[in-house]
Amino acid sequence: MTRGAIPQASSKIQSRSIRSASLRAFSHHSRSLLDIESLSDADIHSLLKEAGRFRRVSIQKAPLKGRHIALLFYESSTRTRCSFELAAKSLGASTTLVSASASSIEKGESLVDTGATLAAMGADCIVIRHPSSGAPHVLARHLRIPIVNAGDGMHEHPSQALLDCYTISEHRQSLKGLRLLLVGDIYHSRVARSNALLLSRLGAQVTFCGPPALLPEVAETIAPGVRVMRDFDRALPQADVIMMLRVQKERLAGLQISADEYVRDYQLTPERLALAPAKALVMHPGPMVRGMELTSEVADSARSLVLEQVRNGVAVRRAILLRALGGRA
Ligand code: NCD
Repeated sequence: MTRGAIPQASSKIQSRSIRSASLRAFSHHSRSLLDIESLSDADIHSLLKEAGRFRRVSIQKAPLKGRHIALLFYESSTRTRCSFELAAKSLGASTTLVSASASSIEKGESLVDTGATLAAMGADCIVIRHPSSGAPHVLARHLRIPIVNAGDGMHEHPSQALLDCYTISEHRQSLKGLRLLLVGDIYHSRVARSNALLLSRLGAQVTFCGPPALLPEVAETIAPGVRVMRDFDRALPQADVIMMLRVQKERLAGLQISADEYVRDYQLTPERLALAPAKALVMHPGPMVRGMELTSEVADSARSLVLEQVRNGVAVRRAILLRALGGRA
């Protein structure tokens, strides 16, 4: 072999490996679920369709058998964590839970080091919840496995929006023109952001309702057509779906909110619900604080979809994990 041939051959190998590395990078990024914006319309439709299939037919095979999913939770969670875990196990995958208070995270290990450690142990996918906005994106940039955002700070909660969207679509023929009223602590709510982005993209008309301290005017700019209304009683008659949100006390950081005033102006009571159209549905991502954002009568009424949302969450998360890991059910 002449000397000159070596660089040629190695540059071919190099470009091939660069190409395959970038393809790998592309494929793991395209299987991640980081936020609503990075989902294509086709992704959204196939995730919702797949969730519907999971709701209708029982799983016969274990399409994720032998795969390992790490649940990396830096914040508390009941519904999201359990439903990702149940979804993973029902597809045959094994799961490992790493929670901030019982791991080396407490000892100061960085997010990327923790993620790399889990990947080195053989995790095929990481589902992460983190108090900082953008944490799942940071992991996705550093690791070569798909990352699923289970809620990042005040940014997004895409799996919740997908399950909410799926739940609404079980009750309505079309989301086009659906009037969605999101009420309460919009400012701190990643659920509100992801829902506004997803549902407005699918043709719903989104209105935010809350006091200025929990709903800055700038919230209108989140997506085209989003409106802000302060008066709950005036917003209710124009709502097909009323999505109530918890006041996130852990993120209030000095904001002065009077619970009495909040209850007076924004609590969903049976009397208030009577102002909405007769078919209007009530939703809540949980955890609910009964007696604060809504009363028990409303939470437990026939109009409330709260437990349907939870039930559908498992099916939607199966679809998300299957997309992430490329299995077929
Ligand atoms: C929410 C969350 O953690 O973002 N809950 C959920 O995941 N269903 C909302 C909240 O904490 O109020």
